[in-house]
Amino acid sequence: MTSFSFQKSIMPLFSFTHYKFLWRSSIAFAFFLTLLLIANSLTLQTQSTPIPCNKDPYKQLNLILNQNGTVTRPNKPPESPPAADPTLLVLSKDLSINQSKGTWARVYLPRVALDHRSKLPLVVFFHGGGFIFLSAASTIFHEFCFNMANDVVAVIASVEYRLAPEHRLPAAYDDAVEALHWIKANQDDWLKNLVDYSNLFLMGSSAGGNIAYNAGLRAAAADEDQIPKMKGLILVQPFFSGTRRTGSERRLVNEPHLALCFNDAMWELSLPVGVDRDHEYCNPMAGNGPERLGMMKRRGWWVLVTGCGGDPLVDRQMEVVRLMQKKGVRVVGHFTAGDYHGVQDSDPLKAKELYEVIKTFISALN
Ligand SMILES: *[C@@H]1O[C@H](CO)[C@@H](O)[C@H](O)[C@H]1NC(C)=O
Ligand SMILES: *[C@@H]1O[C@H](CO)[C@@H](O)[C@H](O)[C@H]1NC(C)=O
Repeated sequence: MTSFSFQKSIMPLFSFTHYKFLWRSSIAFAFFLTLLLIANSLTLQTQSTPIPCNKDPYKQLNLILNQNGTVTRPNKPPESPPAADPTLLVLSKDLSINQSKGTWARVYLPRVALDHRSKLPLVVFFHGGGFIFLSAASTIFHEFCFNMANDVVAVIASVEYRLAPEHRLPAAYDDAVEALHWIKANQDDWLKNLVDYSNLFLMGSSAGGNIAYNAGLRAAAADEDQIPKMKGLILVQPFFSGTRRTGSERRLVNEPHLALCFNDAMWELSLPVGVDRDHEYCNPMAGNGPERLGMMKRRGWWVLVTGCGGDPLVDRQMEVVRLMQKKGVRVVGHFTAGDYHGVQDSDPLKAKELYEVIKTFISALN
């Protein structure tokens, strides 16, 4: 069992009134304190013996590769329709992005924006699922975005992107960037009239966090006439890895919510054929990744990275935060003890805490 000796280190890092001015000293300090506490307490845990992996990544993930090259995903999780019903707290509707690719966005509008014709921040959201599973229509993400729109008081555009292994990376990044072009050119009433375009964020959880990061790298380097101006990134438990196993990956090798076997199989089926996990899509330390962060710095973006001690990916996420700090990107790390990968998708109270962190982050920048 996971046990932590530092309950007090579940510290929200946003309790500062002069946030913008104090971030360099106070937040960096509080952040490193949290890192240190998590690192120390985690080393106390015993390591478990890895359960042997199935060598076939399709079998490992319970995917059926059909004769005709398509992939069947048995046990499809439930999906929810959008509802543009003005008696709801949040209205939602689906808008096509590119029909030939099957991409679209589910847009969530808090009713207050309609009532007052006020403009709200826009969060472009990418769902998780290891690049292979789930949809913007999946009930877990529908509810997550609905509640986030309500609590954060923002318009959310949850993007349906193409999945691997039928469409390996960078297909999802291409779709994400295309979604940004689409937002820029959009004439939809909600997006056109009720969004404050000086207040736009890219966000994703798990694999969606990886997509937000990589699409962010591209967007930061892109021509500003093509892509809306952005304020920053919100990366919730972003899905990163590498060939070297981190301490948290080894320690939490059989973690039921994200066992290493599944983790490896998802990378194997989503990365371009023939590359390993030290490709920069997967490992931000690899290749030109670190250099490309310079553009985020030049754009003056802010980045929020959240994670938790019970997630095998936590060490890599902290490494990315340190990399960004080194590159001069304005980054805030919010790491808590315990919990597990994807906790916000199954625990409404944890989701609510996360919305609060996001709301504070967004409002502190205004
Ligand atoms: C491919 O095969 C699967 C399973 O046999 C079938 O359901 C699907 O319709 C086929 N798709 C095409 C494009 O032929
Ligand atoms: C949709 O995607 C196709 C295939 O990649 C591309 O050729 C086309 O330009 C895209 N359409 C729009 C409207 O962007």
